[in-house]
Amino acid sequence: MVDFDFTEEQLMIKEAARDFAENELAGGAAERDEKEQFPFEQVKKMAELGFMGMMVPQEHGGAGLDTVSYVLALEEISKADASAGVIMSVNNSLVCWGLEKFGSPAQKDKYLKPLASGKQLGAFLLSEPEAGSDAVNQRTTAARDGEFYVLNGTKNFITNGANADVLLVMATTDRTKGPRGVSAFIVEKKFPGVSVSKKEHKLGIRSSDTAQITFQDCRVPKENLIKEEGFGFKFAMMTLDGGRIGIASQAIGIARASLDASLKYVKERKAFEKFLHEFQAIQFKLADMHTNIEAAHLLTLNAALKKDKGERFTKEAAMAKLFASRVAVDSALEAIQIHGGYGYLKDFPVERYLRDAKITEIYEGTSEIQRIVIAREVLELK
Ligand code: CAA
Repeated sequence: MVDFDFTEEQLMIKEAARDFAENELAGGAAERDEKEQFPFEQVKKMAELGFMGMMVPQEHGGAGLDTVSYVLALEEISKADASAGVIMSVNNSLVCWGLEKFGSPAQKDKYLKPLASGKQLGAFLLSEPEAGSDAVNQRTTAARDGEFYVLNGTKNFITNGANADVLLVMATTDRTKGPRGVSAFIVEKKFPGVSVSKKEHKLGIRSSDTAQITFQDCRVPKENLIKEEGFGFKFAMMTLDGGRIGIASQAIGIARASLDASLKYVKERKAFEKFLHEFQAIQFKLADMHTNIEAAHLLTLNAALKKDKGERFTKEAAMAKLFASRVAVDSALEAIQIHGGYGYLKDFPVERYLRDAKITEIYEGTSEIQRIVIAREVLELK
């Protein structure tokens, strides 16, 4: 196993994220969840702390940190508020990363700087009504017309969709070519022809915004094409590799919150004249939760470290997300069980943890998709 002696800088970032999360996020998380309120003020402060473009070099408006620091910070943010976690994860992993890696100097100047510094918010538009797990099946079209591409189609389940300023949009420029006919575009939300056609109401992560976005004859300047025609599917897949590290970190944050709430409760609550923590049935649950969380954390750090070393990390990120998301759901379920009837009430936070945890098994590739990705690599099919 790799050596995870964190640097002083990494530990400082973790500390700063924890302070912010405990002092500025945790208190209002339940109310924002209840009211489906986007955490505008909190995201602004996260941007001031450098959390919205953590891995982007400073010259492009980011904090210039590594993926390990990002994992540590995102766990802390998500532990307090998983909605803030996904807002941060999407902006960092799905938007800034791809622009930094593949954007032209002009694209970086115009779009990456405001996104990485958190002055603007980004979204990643791959999923469609008929293209979820089967992401190749893109129906949104981008037809070249002189100096422009004209976009038509609908994108679904878009995190940050309603509030984003900049959209990274996958669309097909040549459907006969399948994945090699998909291209990626930078689209400003204010371009004519872009509309938020639906705001979704969700089971969990309710204070993050999820929207359907429609493009109707939206003219996008040709210089907003990322790299070249046909690069969009690979771009999306590579981007999602990094995204899955982010969602694994979010899941671990939720799992840690579930464990912490349980540890507090079992030391306060008595049954049969004993504290709950004195029962071996409860101790075993806590031991399993702790062990699984540590394992998920190590898998995620392993993927992050590989990414930081510039090595291929597709399988490692998929394993981290697959395992961490299951741990998040299991930990939240156990936390509710430990709390008994109280766990089922809104008076305690654990019911929110379960609602928030479930999505980590679905977005950025379902657990079934992660298994496909892992199996292909194990079988050396890719
Ligand atoms: N890195 C680089 N290239 C990759 C890649 C990767 N990780 N994965 C695939 N590719 C390339 C392949 O090499 C192939 O390239 P060639 O044409 O040059 O050979 C091309 O992409 C097509 O790949 P596949 O043949 O593997 O395509 P497939 O149809 O079998 O699908 C899949 C692969 C893994 C199932 C993919 O469709 C997938 O990941 N689906 C899930 C999509 C997903 O995660 N959606 C999440 C939406 S975003 C979201 O949730 C964000 C949010 O708001 C929180």
